[in-house]
Amino acid sequence: MKSLLVTGGAGFIGSNFIHYMLKKYDDYRIVNLDILTYAGNLENLKGVENNPNYRFVKGSITDDQLVGKLFREEDFDYVINFAAESHVDRSIEDPAIFIKTNIMGTQILLDAAKKHWQTGKDSQGYPAYKEGKKFFQVSTDEAYGSLGETGMFTETTNLAPNSPYSASKTSADLIVRAYSETFKMPVNITRCSNNYGPYQFPEKLIPLMIVNCLKGKSLPVYGDGMQIRDWLHVKDHCSAIDSVLHKGKPGEVYNVGGNNEKANIDIVKLIIDTVREKLSSNPDLSNHNYQLSTINYQLIKYVEDRLGHDRRYAIDNTKITTELGWSPSYTFETGMSQTIDWYLNNQDWLNNVINKDYLEYYDKMYSSK
Ligand code: NAD
Ligand code: DAU
Repeated sequence: MKSLLVTGGAGFIGSNFIHYMLKKYDDYRIVNLDILTYAGNLENLKGVENNPNYRFVKGSITDDQLVGKLFREEDFDYVINFAAESHVDRSIEDPAIFIKTNIMGTQILLDAAKKHWQTGKDSQGYPAYKEGKKFFQVSTDEAYGSLGETGMFTETTNLAPNSPYSASKTSADLIVRAYSETFKMPVNITRCSNNYGPYQFPEKLIPLMIVNCLKGKSLPVYGDGMQIRDWLHVKDHCSAIDSVLHKGKPGEVYNVGGNNEKANIDIVKLIIDTVREKLSSNPDLSNHNYQLSTINYQLIKYVEDRLGHDRRYAIDNTKITTELGWSPSYTFETGMSQTIDWYLNNQDWLNNVINKDYLEYYDKMYSSK
């Protein structure tokens, strides 16, 4: 058995990754360490709780005692660090927790891995490690900052993060790099573009727009809506992590993206059209309390722009596709259609995650815009 520490596994990408790995490998044991912030939800893991190869531990990556205890108990082969505060708008409101979780938490995980994996020193005085270990940092393309109308991010593009969120993720990314350079720790870093798919918390663009359509609420588009993101289905991100984990050269960074640039306003319009079409053609769904007549472009509301809003992201994925043979399997059309179906068919999940705290956040966030 291989033993994996997955942090933040109750969030959007982490939970998709746990489903993906447990389905694909029956010789992997996964320990999910998650503090269950507003973004972490154990319902995302329904169906795996009773899997003998899965263990959930409620706790923080910033708790060095707990992290050390887990390393002693489980003798991890791999650490995959998803745990983070992940929402740019929240980092503008309150950066402190982003620094603590995203930077300090990563350093605590690195130190625990170094301590438990080190066997001694090599002839040059660098730490030597047990065979087959890897520390995997799930970083982000936002580390590169913003693009103009042309060009793409490659792995050698200068890092120039703009928001407190992306600055904290870039700091973590660089600390992981430092452990590779200074301590020769076996690491990989991936920098992925925007993900979409099931279990994404409805503060992010795509699920927020779906939910607001269903509730007949306005669809807040920041600024002129012409900002561009490069979208990837979350399952394709999971398969990319799988490839890098098993085939990635230690010390290397890999961009992950599917060559799928879209302007925000086009995504919002696609969601309105698709939700309308699905509700009108599926009588079962129409029985719910939706007001089909209100789901149209009049819901779009241009609001004050995000501070420091990055204009465009675009990922050059040449390295991962040519060196590791990874490629995305979803087209955007299929991925979005399935994703919208998932939200329409999982109203209970939506009602559970949209709790009082979230509604207060939402009202505060959008009333000032
Ligand atoms: P998410 O907000 O949905 O999930 C984050 C998870 O981390 C939650 O379950 C939360 O409870 C947990 N968490 C937060 N603080 C913690 C702590 N101190 N200890 C343990 N657990 C903690 O985020 P996501 O969208 O799934 O993103 C996962 C990772 O992928 C993040 O590191 C993010 O920066 C990175 N990433 C996300 C995207 C994207 O499009 N969503 C793209 C590229 C990279
Ligand atoms: O690129 C990877 C990053 O993608 C990840 O590192 C982050 O964790 C993830 O949150 C995401 O960041 P973005 O800021 O790009 O995602 P978000 O869904 O918040 O916004 C996408 C775009 O939509 C962005 O240009 C802002 C805009 N937007 C967003 C919201 C929530 C709106 O116009 N209106 C909205 O209400």
